[in-house]
Amino acid sequence: MKKTILITGGAGFIGSHLVRLFVNKYPEYQVVNVDKLTYAGNLANLKDVENKPNYIFEKADIVDAELMFKIFDQYQPDGVIHLAAESHVDRSIANPNEFIFTNIVGTTNLLNAARKCWANQFENKRFYHVSTDEVYGSLGEIGLFTEETAYDPRSPYSASKASSDHLVRAYHHTFGLPVVVSNCSNNYGSFQFPEKLIPLFINNIRNLKALPVYGKGENIRDWLWVEDHARAIDLIFHSGANGDTYNIGGHNEWTNIALIKVMCTIMDRKLGRAAGESEKLITYVKDRAGHDLRYAIDSSKLQRELGWTPSLQFEEGLEKTIDWYLENDAWMKQVTSGDYQNYYEQQYLNR
Ligand code: NAD
Ligand code: TYD
Repeated sequence: MKKTILITGGAGFIGSHLVRLFVNKYPEYQVVNVDKLTYAGNLANLKDVENKPNYIFEKADIVDAELMFKIFDQYQPDGVIHLAAESHVDRSIANPNEFIFTNIVGTTNLLNAARKCWANQFENKRFYHVSTDEVYGSLGEIGLFTEETAYDPRSPYSASKASSDHLVRAYHHTFGLPVVVSNCSNNYGSFQFPEKLIPLFINNIRNLKALPVYGKGENIRDWLWVEDHARAIDLIFHSGANGDTYNIGGHNEWTNIALIKVMCTIMDRKLGRAAGESEKLITYVKDRAGHDLRYAIDSSKLQRELGWTPSLQFEEGLEKTIDWYLENDAWMKQVTSGDYQNYYEQQYLNR
């Protein structure tokens, strides 16, 4: 039977990889991408699938409750994979309110729309919330986040994601909504908006601009290739246990400064610069307020129960990622100039 899967935030970084995976891997599914197209949403990320018969785009704001009821009524989705969010910690420090609206109110609107649409007929239905390891707070030098780690969010971003995780689980316990939640570590790869560390620094190294390292650069992040995250979501969506949580991560911890130095070395080579040239761009700046020291994920449950393993070694993934940004300078120029925001009007409204 033809299934309809509604993916929110499908024009963003991770969402576009997930939409591409689903549209190509499951021609029997109808994939409906619901996205507001904020600064982080870019339909050019999905050029290669936009004309596929099993792909539909709906420009919509998940904060608009009535519109969500209408969209669920129209498409009658069998499954929802919810990624739409405000996702950048620095922006959440500068302006927390947008994070409350989209991440908390928006998620609640989707839960209500799913409940109403499914009218307590939950067989073969699933609401999947894609979340972050940042809900667990910050680690010291040792230890890993497991699915049992108590929530301790410390930024407005992570607090809003923790809140939405709690709401998703509350709808499961209170109303019986079939849900699944995953909490993933930092992603890297193609199509990431250049405000996050890796694409921002690739762009700055290329253009000989300063590399603003927060504090001493000793904070630690656990990096996972975005396509491995998308594969994990596919697996959990189809095989995860109802009501369960899965941590996703690649056991790949790096201090920011070590990672930045590796990026500089790779880019010196690729750009034909003298060794050490790009490192001169490193500029230590004032630390981020409330900067979490260390994130590190224990993903053994996902590996053991569902057989997932990351497919790429980090060094290989980083090389691939740097190559992608160097080969797609037009994409980088488009997003840094803001040009991409007209793409929807050109591609969709003028059809
Ligand atoms: P992103 O910022 O690249 O994309 C977010 C997408 O959501 C954009 O397409 C944007 O237009 C859309 N959106 C924002 N507000 C909306 C609204 N009100 N209505 C409809 N659409 C809206 O984010 P990302 O990095 O791809 O992250 C996707 C999800 O994965 C988020 O929920 C994030 O919390 C989670 N996550 C991200 C990471 C990471 O490293 N990037 C790690 C773990 C979890
Ligand atoms: P980021 O990519 O914003 O992800 P998150 O804050 O969700 O982990 O940042 C990754 C790390 O890099 C984080 O410790 C903050 C640091 N960072 C910098 O030092 N300079 C920068 O310009 C940015 C964007 C991040």
